[in-house]
Amino acid sequence: MGRSRISYESTRRLEATERAWKETLRLLPVTGVVPRYALRDVRLGKWQIPAGALVYSIVPTALRSREWWTDPTRFDPDRFSEERAEDRKHKGLFLPFGSGAHACIGMHLATVEAKALWHAMLTRCRFGLERDYRARHTYAPLGVVSGDVKLVVERV
Ligand code: HEM
Repeated sequence: MGRSRISYESTRRLEATERAWKETLRLLPVTGVVPRYALRDVRLGKWQIPAGALVYSIVPTALRSREWWTDPTRFDPDRFSEERAEDRKHKGLFLPFGSGAHACIGMHLATVEAKALWHAMLTRCRFGLERDYRARHTYAPLGVVSGDVKLVVERV
């Protein structure tokens, strides 16, 4: 797609970028928990949950579950390809934007913005760190990557 200005329609063709975006959110999610109140008594797997209970879905646990993801700690964007579609094995599995009636309404906008921004940056710039640095992902309270290091951006 080169360095041309990008339109909304052409962001749809950035399939590899979308897979990398999803895989980044899977491994380094912004939201750590998705809370819900039970409106009525409900059984969830082996758990009996009473009406009124506050239940937290632990997002990183679902996103790294060995039961559902192949080699879950590996950065592997192709797990989101049409052929593998690991995220679609269960509707409560890919949780960076939550799930159900209150799932993030900005999910598609955020994805289009991220693809357009990455396209603009990656076709014009090269990125590196000024020194060897092992980043950590932490919740404070939203997910952030620790950053006591300078990012070096070079125009290419
Ligand atoms: C990477 C970017 C974003 C992430 C990771 C994110 C994540 C989330 C999560 C986890 C929830 C809770 C969903 C649930 O309870 O099931 C949420 C809700 C929400 N998000 Fe986002 N979000 C992002 C961008 C945006 C943007 C760009 C907008 C608006 C333009 C937006 C608007 C909302 C709103 C209004 C809700 C509440 C929905 C409801 O309770 O019905 N988000 N988001």
